[in-house]
Amino acid sequence: MNEHDSERMTGILEAQGCASVADAGCADMVILNTCSIREKAEQKFFSELGRLKSLKASNPGLKIAVAGCIAQQEGAGILSRAPYVDMIFGPSDISRLSSLLEQQRFGERTLVDTTGDPEYHRKRLPATRKDRLKAWVSIMYGCDNFCTYCVVPYLRGRERSRMPDDIAAEVRELGHWGYKEVTLLGQNVNSYGKGLGKGIDFPALLRLINEILGIERIRFVTSHPRDLSEKLIIAIRELPKVCESIHLPVQSGSDSILTAMNRRYRREDYLDKVKKLREAVPHIALTTDIIAGFPGETEQDFEMTMQLLSEVRYDGIFAFKYSKRPGTSALGLPGHLEEDIKEKRLERVLALQKEITIQKNRELIGTTQEILLDGRSKKGGMITGRTRGNKAVNVAADPSLIGSLVNVKISEAGMNSLTGQLCE
Ligand code: 5AD
Ligand code: SF4
Repeated sequence: MNEHDSERMTGILEAQGCASVADAGCADMVILNTCSIREKAEQKFFSELGRLKSLKASNPGLKIAVAGCIAQQEGAGILSRAPYVDMIFGPSDISRLSSLLEQQRFGERTLVDTTGDPEYHRKRLPATRKDRLKAWVSIMYGCDNFCTYCVVPYLRGRERSRMPDDIAAEVRELGHWGYKEVTLLGQNVNSYGKGLGKGIDFPALLRLINEILGIERIRFVTSHPRDLSEKLIIAIRELPKVCESIHLPVQSGSDSILTAMNRRYRREDYLDKVKKLREAVPHIALTTDIIAGFPGETEQDFEMTMQLLSEVRYDGIFAFKYSKRPGTSALGLPGHLEEDIKEKRLERVLALQKEITIQKNRELIGTTQEILLDGRSKKGGMITGRTRGNKAVNVAADPSLIGSLVNVKISEAGMNSLTGQLCE
């Protein structure tokens, strides 16, 4: 989502006549688009800011802007650590970037705008996309779920859906420009449409987009397990362009931890949804997010997560150590764990998943997969692409085929990618 926000900022700046440069040393302005989801992201930001300080010392005309969730969280507070920052604006203020730049031209003081544009979700902002075949499309902003560890609802605000006509128009334009794949973005795509008063929900939006010419594949992130409906499962099964792949963050396999996280589903409910998904769409690729070492997580709770991984056998996971975030209610929970316990649990989760991922990838050997060829592989002379399940595949093919859907027979499988041969 942040990367796509950066694409929007680039689009707005280019529409104003600015051009991107590869090296910050040549820039008149640098925008750091920040993430605050875990402490590590925040540390990275402050060290990057330190580097820009030295750059500004040698080029005093350089303007430094801070965008995104840390800007939203800290606001003018950033200036106490970094008084050399010129502009601070939040994720829902991107639409005001042009006017912020205008104001900047006429004044010296630091501009801070984290009030959030109430009309942000109704605006059609330009975007300069990095990729020419695959595009991200935001369908909603914010989140109402308030998982107890998470800063997102505080920083990205309440859930707001974009108008279906605006989304469809954007996707139509992408199809027209030769894009083949769209990934619909939202913190919780399954509650798309709530509050729009248009009688449209997420499965209906998928049906609308499935009709759009030129677009061959549709993906979406992220689905909250509680809101994953039977209607959505049917849509995945029925709609030819919707890829058989779903990211369904479970976070923990223990009911008491799920309750403490305010996830509002139980382990059994989650497993039941996985079962229904697999019954309806047998080869669906499943990925998840795991938090290791949530406050109060006992060795037994953690074992429940390990067991769940073995039971579900995900295609891949994203796992993180629990990180204390300002303003979240988990801060006040008893039983915060030492770093080394969190670290060890994270390592165990990752080691288990590594085995499962390799096994699952090997199961694809001998099968024929539809691949969207999207670029040159780092492996000498090969072309790379993705299966409908979003696995990377390297294949010997003519570069002129980049952008096409081809059938590939899988012959080798590693942890991060597969290799195959083009079928006639
Ligand atoms: N600590 C660790 N992981 C977190 N995530 C969100 N907040 C935290 C936190 N405080 C993870 C969740 C979420 C993913 C995007 O980031 O697993 O699904
Ligand atoms: Fe954060 Fe939970 Fe919302 Fe995901 S669903 S963004 S984890 S509050």
